[in-house]
Amino acid sequence: MSKFTVLTGITTTGRPHLGNYVGAIRPAIEASRNDDVASFYFLADYHALIKCRDPQIIRQSTLEIAASWLALGLDTDKAIFYRQSDIPEISELTWLLTCITAKGLMNRAHAYKAAVQENVAAGEDPDFAISMGLFSYPILMAADILMFNAHRVPVGRDQVQHLEMARDIAQRFNHHFGEHFILPAAVVDDDVAVLPGRDGRKMSKSYNNTIPLWLPEKQLRKSIMKIVTNSLEPGEPKQTTDSALYSIYAAFASDEQRAEMKQAYADGIGWGDAKQQCYELINAEISEAREKYEALIADPALIETRLREGAARAREVATPFMRQIRDAVGIRSLE
Ligand code: TRP
Repeated sequence: MSKFTVLTGITTTGRPHLGNYVGAIRPAIEASRNDDVASFYFLADYHALIKCRDPQIIRQSTLEIAASWLALGLDTDKAIFYRQSDIPEISELTWLLTCITAKGLMNRAHAYKAAVQENVAAGEDPDFAISMGLFSYPILMAADILMFNAHRVPVGRDQVQHLEMARDIAQRFNHHFGEHFILPAAVVDDDVAVLPGRDGRKMSKSYNNTIPLWLPEKQLRKSIMKIVTNSLEPGEPKQTTDSALYSIYAAFASDEQRAEMKQAYADGIGWGDAKQQCYELINAEISEAREKYEALIADPALIETRLREGAARAREVATPFMRQIRDAVGIRSLE
């Protein structure tokens, strides 16, 4: 019997930060330990090209993100971990899907619409600097998902529309060519807190408020010391609601530690003390992985090998399935 399939992609732009760790990496690695699911995790380097034209950044980010997942304990015997660009069937499927996707569907994509709106607001041509890559982004993402007939796709809220589009595209394909694709469902985990950044807004590279995951200890401590608090003095009772520092602490704490920290706030813990405890807690959770990360980063050939092994396993699924899909649309041998 085939297992339940879970799949998700990580765009390879930028350095992993604590928000990525808490919101995506940690829950995905935990989920992959479940024996009842087949998990596919991949580095979406084709998606990265849409946002980034610096080859050095694409390569470095792929390396760092792969090293992060491996260092944090992704079990690559269980999960299939690969790079999107190592699976040529994904680009092939993208074209077949492009040919059945309504342009009107793509016109409605939030990311594209936001880019158009920005142009209009700036008095530019509506399509100024918008590539076909950005416009067709949801089709590539649909191919990522449909290639492996994923049932569930864990994503952030901002990606839910892309999942609806993937279902729409799958349905249309099935309607024309027979039942080939499973309709995937987005999984948005509301229990996984959106981690605030140092300024209290969502931790995000675009707000420049991140705490990078792999800072050396001293710098990690320094970065945590920069989390914005208020001017209450030690001894004055403090609120945990609306405290970015508390939310960041809570994302790493046990129930017991959370309760104790809440009490400490009520009792007037000083901000410096609270930050120190936050640093110690985070550092304890990641320090072992940091050593593994550093060893991996120093050995790109090992990472390359692991990714190629993952790609070979992914292609055991993709190659025969793509043959079936080509046949379905009539790309067939003439014999
Ligand atoms: N677009 C996703 C993001 O920015 C990344 C991604 C690419 C993805 N392909 C995917 C996520 C397939 C889930 C499934 O977060």
